[in-house]
Amino acid sequence: MNDQSATVRDSFSGRFAVVAAVAGSAIGLGNIWRFPYVAGENGGGAFLLVYLVCIIAIGITVMTSEFIIGRAAQKNPYGAFKALAPGKPWFLIGLMGVVAAFMILAFYTTVAGWTLEYFYQSITGNITGKNNAELTVMFDTFLKGSFRPLLWFLIFMGLTGAIIISGVRKGIEKYTKVMMPFLFVLLILLCVRSLTLPGAGEGLRFLFYPDISKLTPKVILEALGQSFFSLSIGMGTLITYGSYIKKNENLASSAGMVTLADTAIAIIAGIAIFPAVFALGGSPASDTGLVFIVLPEIFQKMPLGNIFATLFFLLLSIAALTSTISVLEVIVAYLVEELKMSRRKATIAATLSVSVLGVITVLSFGALSNIRVADKNVFSILEYLTSNIMLPVGGFFIVLFIGWFFSPALVKKELTNDGSLKGRYLPLFRFFVKFIAPVAIAMVFLYSLGIFR
Ligand code: TRP
Repeated sequence: MNDQSATVRDSFSGRFAVVAAVAGSAIGLGNIWRFPYVAGENGGGAFLLVYLVCIIAIGITVMTSEFIIGRAAQKNPYGAFKALAPGKPWFLIGLMGVVAAFMILAFYTTVAGWTLEYFYQSITGNITGKNNAELTVMFDTFLKGSFRPLLWFLIFMGLTGAIIISGVRKGIEKYTKVMMPFLFVLLILLCVRSLTLPGAGEGLRFLFYPDISKLTPKVILEALGQSFFSLSIGMGTLITYGSYIKKNENLASSAGMVTLADTAIAIIAGIAIFPAVFALGGSPASDTGLVFIVLPEIFQKMPLGNIFATLFFLLLSIAALTSTISVLEVIVAYLVEELKMSRRKATIAATLSVSVLGVITVLSFGALSNIRVADKNVFSILEYLTSNIMLPVGGFFIVLFIGWFFSPALVKKELTNDGSLKGRYLPLFRFFVKFIAPVAIAMVFLYSLGIFR
């Protein structure tokens, strides 16, 4: 790195910008597409309970730890571990993060492409008048036909790359600051409609009543994975964003606020979806298609439904975009800082190589659906490996690193901004990062491997 880039390293412009950018990364398809479908397949209330425990016991701690690593090192995840632990193998966590970024982008952008298709279908009036069965057919047909999903995927990859080329301030910040409030308002409208459908109560019960008999090792692992996925933690996205946070921002309270917002949006999405699922006669376990089938149904039952649907899928695409840029930024920061590429070259190289894996992923619902491992197509394999394995493993080592390896004085320095904050959370954070979070992650793994009951 030359001297100039070391002194003028790009950063977020202020308090609100930091929280908005990190929330932009966290809030996305994970909340609105993935949370409802995974909760639906894993028992509803029982899943939600474990999910919330994971967020509180593990999520905030991992997020704060990533911020500490990123801001202390001022580097991409790989470079950060190299700088903070020279000559030690911790950099492997950073490397795994870069690999995970490729895998996540491939399947995440696939789904982001679906949101563009539904934006298009709403604006052209094609979802109007369709019932659950017809919408299911529409979704399946779209998914299996290879051309349109591919086209939307490539468009979305292109958008992501275009924003990343222009850098953190101009690129990332501008797009994350304004859109979230709109999406929030639309979600609330959806909740109101969903809750006023006859028979809605059963959906609420499904989401909120924890039927403990449904708690299996699989449900617990899925809840852990979803908590990591939704908070964007475990692969260094927030190490990278942490490196753009100024020295006078409060890391712990930023982590707290983002976690609260992210969790609230997921639950609100659940309140929008499940009452309607039960009221309109769908199944909560409808796999990856759940929201693409149920939400259009709810919009049908609203005045100006098409307009709302169009707006909603547009905003959902933008929410997805503020997440895909945060993942692509990890790869690009790595290429720029470690392989000394220009930002432009790095972005193009990353976008093209992710697209190759992405094309295979998109086609895994159609032409390549026969490629399967343990009955999962490429899409599900990537989703499973990253959320349920790589992110929690990454998070495990991140908290071990901060809890047991990194100097306590430096942790204090980052959490108190070199003494200018009181650091009220410091003792609590220390306890969680040393004991609660690593033990909880390890227990979930042992439990799901059947070693620990
Ligand atoms: N959290 C985002 C969502 O919920 C997705 C995402 C962005 C992500 N960056 C990530 C997931 C890093 C895992 C890791 O939509």
